[in-house]
Amino acid sequence: MHVPLLDLHAQFDPIRDEILAAITRVCDAQRFMLGPEVEALEAELCADLGVRHAIGVSSGTDALLVALMALGIGAGDEVVTSTYSFFATAGSIARTGARAVLVDIDPATFNLDATAVAAAVTPRTRAIMPVHLFGQPADMDPLIEIAAAAGVPIVEDAAQAIGAAYKGRSAGSMAALGCFSFFPSKNLGAFGDGGLVTTNDDGLARDVRLLRNHGAEQQYYHRLIGGNFRLDALQAAVLRVKAPHLRAWTEARRRNADRYRALFREHHLDSIVRLPVEPAGRRHIYNQFVVCVPKRDSLRSHLTARGIGTEIYYPVPFHRQACFKGLAPVDAFPVADRLADTSLALPIYGELTADQQRHVVASIAEFYAA
Ligand SMILES: Cc1ncc(COP(=O)(O)O)c(C=O)c1O
Repeated sequence: MHVPLLDLHAQFDPIRDEILAAITRVCDAQRFMLGPEVEALEAELCADLGVRHAIGVSSGTDALLVALMALGIGAGDEVVTSTYSFFATAGSIARTGARAVLVDIDPATFNLDATAVAAAVTPRTRAIMPVHLFGQPADMDPLIEIAAAAGVPIVEDAAQAIGAAYKGRSAGSMAALGCFSFFPSKNLGAFGDGGLVTTNDDGLARDVRLLRNHGAEQQYYHRLIGGNFRLDALQAAVLRVKAPHLRAWTEARRRNADRYRALFREHHLDSIVRLPVEPAGRRHIYNQFVVCVPKRDSLRSHLTARGIGTEIYYPVPFHRQACFKGLAPVDAFPVADRLADTSLALPIYGELTADQQRHVVASIAEFYAA
């Protein structure tokens, strides 16, 4: 049996005609940059996410970068963030000229440890950037308190977390700015790169809109120095077909997560395999279903031999990346180091069948029985 980590065909096949019609609409209009498709997507996502402004941009990476630029963050500033995330989180901070102040994570959720954040705040701190990693919302209340006490904004890296919620609030709607990715493997994925910045602040929204188009208020008249961070109409048209399905697709992922839990229990693997948790009040959207396991690399080879796709998110935390040498002591973040050595993402996409999940868990049981 073949169980890929992600099967985009399975999602595409039932909506193929709708997607092709949307692409044809853009081809017929011959309007490719921003324009009505992007504006319609932005309005639709504002309603879905419960925010005043949603601004389509060229990628999740650019969403983070433009959000930091809108806050005026640059050289001499510090932004506190997790040492354990996709590279863009710390990379975007560094690209503004600011220093990424790395902190360790909570072992249960892979998200920022609020106590470590409080200890990392200095008079140079200009923002805090939590990541809702794998689709699990970070524990926002303590972070909001720390940020308020320091008088700095929060930028949520919600790249993996569209539709996730914390105490009834959507990921990306709880802070000054929220940043999303539409990379194809995300729960809402484009047919290429795309991203979104959300905010409830009219002034920040205006600046993000300007910055995504070289800071021009009127063509060739530039109030700010921005970049080309525009979302294109083809991506917006595809996303508009997919967005109405997002809730059902996410529910399917959540059902699969529950089924894994039951299967791991059935196979008496709960004491060996550490499963994702869902603390009270949080809605995890399982962009990834990441377990922690002993003998991770051998298990991974065993699963590959059984036709099962897996991935390691992430093998090297930021404090051990060559490009961030000297940013923090390499032995300062034991939790992140431990998770980098033991974490393994299993297939969780909505169209995964019960038989495929049984094959995954039975293959894991077979490995530990040997
Ligand atoms: C946590 C996180 N932040 C930022 C990004 C960057 O998004 P993109 O790949 O769309 O540039 C990603 C993408 O994988 C991500 O997972």
